[in-house]
Amino acid sequence: MSDAHADTDADPVSRVIETVARTAPEIRGGLAGRRRKADEQNPSGETQLAADVWADRLLEERLTAIEGVGQFASEEREAVVDAGEGALAVAVDPLDGSSNLVSNNSMGTVVGVYDADLPARGRDLVASAYVLYGPITTMVVARDGEVTEYVIEGDERRAVGEDLTLPDDPTVYGFGGRVPDWTDRFAEYAREIERELKLRYGGAMIGDVNQVLTYGGVFAYPELESRPEGKLRLQFEANPIAHIVESAGGASSNGAESLLDADPEGLHQRTPMYVGNADLVERLESAFR
Ligand code: AHG
Ligand code: MN
Ligand code: MN
Repeated sequence: MSDAHADTDADPVSRVIETVARTAPEIRGGLAGRRRKADEQNPSGETQLAADVWADRLLEERLTAIEGVGQFASEEREAVVDAGEGALAVAVDPLDGSSNLVSNNSMGTVVGVYDADLPARGRDLVASAYVLYGPITTMVVARDGEVTEYVIEGDERRAVGEDLTLPDDPTVYGFGGRVPDWTDRFAEYAREIERELKLRYGGAMIGDVNQVLTYGGVFAYPELESRPEGKLRLQFEANPIAHIVESAGGASSNGAESLLDADPEGLHQRTPMYVGNADLVERLESAFR
């Protein structure tokens, strides 16, 4: 992997990012043969695909082996894995949007690197990243307030976008859940946004978030009448993405405050999630007040 961080004595955070980048082509390469349902459910009670379990095992094996990583947790595992001595706690969504595998649509891998025990607050993130398995494999990394995009080709990882920021002029929106299940206050906000922006919703958070990062706009998996806490998980999905979008000059919210300030209650706790251009997120929060 020809990359500045490839040397093994790089700092632990760089080694986590480098390990994920190196594992991405393997995860991608193994998807075709693992579209079948596993006979298990994940801690969120969702059916797992063989690909979920496999990607999770690959990442667990590689990331717990890194000096400095003390904890590993995954959307696919009930409990935190003790990785020995180490100040870093790595939380992963090994395969985000795995239901898109059968329909051959984009999917992702999400990684949050916290310097606190899990479950942790988003402010405790020292780095966040996602891999997007789209027509090409890209990786977006937020660290020290800066967002960088890489193209991953085999064992090559090259930066293609430094200090990424959301475009000032938003273009796209993507809202999850079913329209009849949206709360009135979200539905009212959605009706406004639908008249201003173009619908881009692919059913995998990472694909949808990457469009917002590229074109500007807003992504939401909102509170629902049937599930006021929404669907997405704070530790594995909402925190890392909020960290990336805020580092790119955007904003995040759970409806009331930045996702990064949300109180960590449980490892698999769900949260409503709104991320994108600051003014669009502010409009959501004022519509909710
Ligand atoms: P995962 O496959 O990791 O469980 O994530 C799926 C999530 C997220 O990727 C996406 O935004 C959301 O589920 C889509 O949910 P719906 O199918 O309810 O739209
Ligand atoms: Mn997910
Ligand atoms: Mn997943």
